[in-house]
Amino acid sequence: MTSLATQIGDFHFKNVLMNASGVHCMTAAELDELAASPAGTLVTKSGTPNARPGNPEPRYQALTMGSINSMGLPNKGLDYYLDYALAFQVKHPQQPIFMSVAGMGPDDYVTLAQKIQDSDFTGLTEFNLSCPNVPGKPQIAYDLETTEQILDNIFRLFKKPAGVKLPPFFDLAQFDQMAALLNRYPLQFINSINSLGNGLMIDPATDTTVIRPKGGFGGIGGAYAKPIALANVRAFRQRLRAEIAIIGTGGVNTGRDVYDLILCGADMVQLGTVLQEEGIPAFARLSQELEAIMATKGYTQLADFKGQLHTIA
Ligand code: DOR
Repeated sequence: MTSLATQIGDFHFKNVLMNASGVHCMTAAELDELAASPAGTLVTKSGTPNARPGNPEPRYQALTMGSINSMGLPNKGLDYYLDYALAFQVKHPQQPIFMSVAGMGPDDYVTLAQKIQDSDFTGLTEFNLSCPNVPGKPQIAYDLETTEQILDNIFRLFKKPAGVKLPPFFDLAQFDQMAALLNRYPLQFINSINSLGNGLMIDPATDTTVIRPKGGFGGIGGAYAKPIALANVRAFRQRLRAEIAIIGTGGVNTGRDVYDLILCGADMVQLGTVLQEEGIPAFARLSQELEAIMATKGYTQLADFKGQLHTIA
């Protein structure tokens, strides 16, 4: 029997796949559909201290090889997702849930962390440090000093299992610096990567950008992101303390894409564009495709190949 079970710290999941924050997780109804799916667990849309309508539409467009989005963190606010998570953990004691949260600035992270710390939430919290789409706000984790300040403030008061969602990095020196910083904190996981920030796509019929916000700039996901996601998971696995798990996100369309992220060291794999475009059936399809690849190689569990990428001598 092939098992797709995995673990982050003391948290166990029966399937390595789950949604990426932002996809199919805005409302309780969508979250319930994830809970009833073969996914190992689910993460909420990034909650901000107050609900937000997000950016003007059109703000998401499917592309030939993926997607572009500038949603601008539309969400129902932290309280809504915290209420959902508290009810969820009573109903599903065996299925730890992730809450994603995002701040508009460093102070918001203290507010968010304090509220979750003071609650009965027992799951994992993902601090999103990488949203590319709020007009006038940078992707926090591209600024090491601000990231350090935010993490110092969070971990001064936050004692629950936590991780960070990172943007893609492109230079080995950036991986060195970020990993050295992250290794100083009691992180359970990182999630790598968020969308490739500030791409641009043009509609050839009208010579117009395909989305409205920010003059057409938006985060790129899907197949365009695959080599970047693989490199980020691999580079962080080579640099982070072994106790920090890695959630691999980006570029998944097939079971082979899931396999490749695990080969680079991912402990869990999240679905973004593919889940948006294919819906809940993506979990069963990708699970079957991954199991088929494992079967041809004689593998029965993820540990048989996790992190075991070969390089050319
Ligand atoms: O691509 C993204 N879109 N990443 C985020 O972190 C947030 C989201 C949005 O709401 O714009």
